[in-house]
Amino acid sequence: MVEKTILKALAGETQAVPPIWMMRQAGRYLPEYRATRAEAGDFLSLCYNSDLAAEVTLQPIRRYGFDAAILFADILLVPQALGADLWFVTGEGPRLSTLTSQAELDALKPTDAIHETLNPIYETVRILSRELPSETTLIGFAGAPWTVATYMIAGRGTPDQGPAHALKDENRAVFEGLLDRITDATIEYLAMQIEAGAEVVKIFDSWAGSLKGADFDAYALEPCRKITAALKARYPHIPVIGFPREAGEKYIGFAKATGVDCVALDSGVAASWAAEHVQADGCVQGNLASSHMVTGGQALVEETRAIVEAFSKGPHIFNLGHGITPDADPENVALMIETVRSGK
Ligand code: CP3
Repeated sequence: MVEKTILKALAGETQAVPPIWMMRQAGRYLPEYRATRAEAGDFLSLCYNSDLAAEVTLQPIRRYGFDAAILFADILLVPQALGADLWFVTGEGPRLSTLTSQAELDALKPTDAIHETLNPIYETVRILSRELPSETTLIGFAGAPWTVATYMIAGRGTPDQGPAHALKDENRAVFEGLLDRITDATIEYLAMQIEAGAEVVKIFDSWAGSLKGADFDAYALEPCRKITAALKARYPHIPVIGFPREAGEKYIGFAKATGVDCVALDSGVAASWAAEHVQADGCVQGNLASSHMVTGGQALVEETRAIVEAFSKGPHIFNLGHGITPDADPENVALMIETVRSGK
């Protein structure tokens, strides 16, 4: 029998109080995270230090009692495991070696080789599955192939994913070859997280919204379907959450087309619209604007209530529409949780 609230929602159960967790819940808005990160040295050292990565994963669980913990790692560890150079520039974000040619694609390491780099992440999962409270669900994750490819092609985050769109238009064979390589690696990476104790996995497609029409179907929907199908074949009982961020109208039918158990919604869609068009097919997650974690007050309370109410007739996991930002006030997180759980 399913007991954990997150697993109940993912199994399609409507609950009087929706379970809650928060994207980037382990992060720079928390003083205890900043302290552990300083101890680790830098962000990547923290990701690969299993004890400290488990520690920062547990910090928001201790402070707030969220219903789920998300593994502390990053979507860009997969490119690194495939052989890309990766580093983070403080205050700016990630930098990677670029990949735009067949020769660079051929130079990536074989899928089997990724575990040499990613073993510490599986160890983090094992530590967490021992140490988390029995009511807390452990979520593993990876980036979706399109989103990961946008960073690998450009060598950094880009406002409009221009370099990835350009490669798609100019050298479709290399572009599609890269997506296939990331898809295969992601399946094996998530499988190992599940073997280590992840109870749910989430696929982050942060830049899905820049794919339009047939491109969305080919490069957001289809890779997510492939990953989900491969995992379901091996682990039929492990729920999958898909997050095609800023998909807009393309949220409709996403769960059916990909086989995911839950669709995570960004705050660009109205909860009432999503309840009618997306939740009708199953569990949804979201979708409070993360800016409320900075501004707080009555607007936070009212918007939280409105989202809970809009999704109250079906399975729902409360979350933000995107990650919490470093300038957020930890008190506002407490106020959001209190509002969701008190039902008033
Ligand atoms: O949600 C969690 O608490 C789990 C851990 C997690 C991180 N990144 C830690 C992190 C998860 C699930 C991610 C996913 C991720 N990483 C995404 C997809 C989700 C999204 O936000 O759209 C993307 C696009 C990345 C790539 C990435 N990592 C960028 C662009 C940046 C720099 C931007 C920033 O916020 O600084 C990161 C760094 C990063 N990943 C941090 C954290 C806590 C901040 C690093 C630090 O401590 O300096």
